[in-house]
Amino acid sequence: MTMLDTEDIQSLVFSAHGGLPQARICRLIVQDRGPARDGLRNVIPEIAFGLHRSARCPDSRVQILFSAEGLRTLAGESAVSRLGRPFRQGIATGQRSRALGDLGPNHPGNWRWRDAGIHALLIVYARDESTVDGEVQRLLKLMGGAWRLEGWESVRLPENSREPFGFRDGISKVRMDIGDGRPPPAGYALVPPEEILINHKHGSPDVLAQNSAYVVVRQIEQDVAAFWRFWQEQAVSEAEAVWLAAKAVGRWPNGMPVSGAEPMAEPPEDETILQQNLSFLNDPRGEGCPFGAHIRRANPRDGLRLDPALSLSLVSGRRIIRRGRVYGSPAPAEAYPPTLRPHLEAPASPPGDNRGLYFLALCADIAGQFEFIQQTWLNNPKHADLFDEVDPIAAGDGIQGANPHFSIPRDPLRRRITGIEKWITIRAGGYFLLPGKMALARLASP
Ligand code: HEM
Repeated sequence: MTMLDTEDIQSLVFSAHGGLPQARICRLIVQDRGPARDGLRNVIPEIAFGLHRSARCPDSRVQILFSAEGLRTLAGESAVSRLGRPFRQGIATGQRSRALGDLGPNHPGNWRWRDAGIHALLIVYARDESTVDGEVQRLLKLMGGAWRLEGWESVRLPENSREPFGFRDGISKVRMDIGDGRPPPAGYALVPPEEILINHKHGSPDVLAQNSAYVVVRQIEQDVAAFWRFWQEQAVSEAEAVWLAAKAVGRWPNGMPVSGAEPMAEPPEDETILQQNLSFLNDPRGEGCPFGAHIRRANPRDGLRLDPALSLSLVSGRRIIRRGRVYGSPAPAEAYPPTLRPHLEAPASPPGDNRGLYFLALCADIAGQFEFIQQTWLNNPKHADLFDEVDPIAAGDGIQGANPHFSIPRDPLRRRITGIEKWITIRAGGYFLLPGKMALARLASP
């Protein structure tokens, strides 16, 4: 494989900008195409490309994404004609909403915003909120009056990397192979460029596809209090409640893999184990990590009920690079079991009323990767020989054949939790393009 031109690729592909925990996702609308292109040209030197942090602006980083409507507005219909159908159509078509489970309370009709109607997302990362704020003001000025700020959301990397339900996130990591022959650091799975970069996947000569990736954005609200109330109601002790919730996620709150068919206490955190690539080879019956657990559905690895090699080949090509962050105010401490409280962000005062995950996933093929994971693994009541249950954490709504169950395999009889509720609601989202540098220059040119 020849080495990729990493300097043409936006840094979000390579980095979660973990050193810059605060960020703001700004939704922009083009008011006037010609001056908007000029504004875009002004901002290109500010965008972070490549593997390394720009020396000129070490305290912040900027990335820019476009919706299909944004590309059409800036460069005409022909600009999008060779990009993928899901991207061109946007996230909120009737068929797509059914497949993703964006029905009922998740229906795009209820969303705060979606890709149709937003032209670009400007994401500014910095160490603190005031730097983010200053940077956003500066960049908007550079972009000029032809771009209107429609709205924005503050997002952050929480302390201890715990997402709002209280589980450590960012453990399973995917890195794109850039062809430098170096093995990935411990804990990373290496994926070929065709899983992330559109032109590598489809061999598209289209300049907008060059070194560009799709980004799926979903604002997912989480009802933390209801989540923990439910697991506590199922259990005779706090320890059992945490164990049950861990079985549903597939990892303990501290990130350790779940094992054992009977309730137990959370094992101590062990970074060596956390960095090991997980395998389900020794867990063919799901007695450690249930087939229906979120992480086993989201990445079944060798653990579909099949020949492990066949399972791995079915799974290959479905990885996504997750770059999500949390939004909203931390939940009140009382929402969590006491053992989790020391590991979480300080609760907000006054406690805000909503919070969740701003899910961002990079991939080269929205249908084959993100939509496949959501539809065929998370939302599928018949996944891996299960027959009527869906992902307890991240399944959609309105799925035919789904009953509110979650099965924990054990010998001789599985334990079945019934009455699983929906603890997440989709509030906004869309399909975006993260263009390479050349693609961006093309967009900014008349
Ligand atoms: C609010 C909703 C969600 C929550 C709370 C959540 C939580 C988690 C947690 C705690 C992990 C384990 C940490 C890790 O392995 O890094 C994880 C892993 C993962 N999640 Fe989610 N998730 C959510 C939504 C989604 C959605 C919508 C998708 C995709 C459609 C998804 C895909 C994945 C994948 C691919 C992994 C890595 C699995 C692995 O390789 O082991 N998640 N999630």
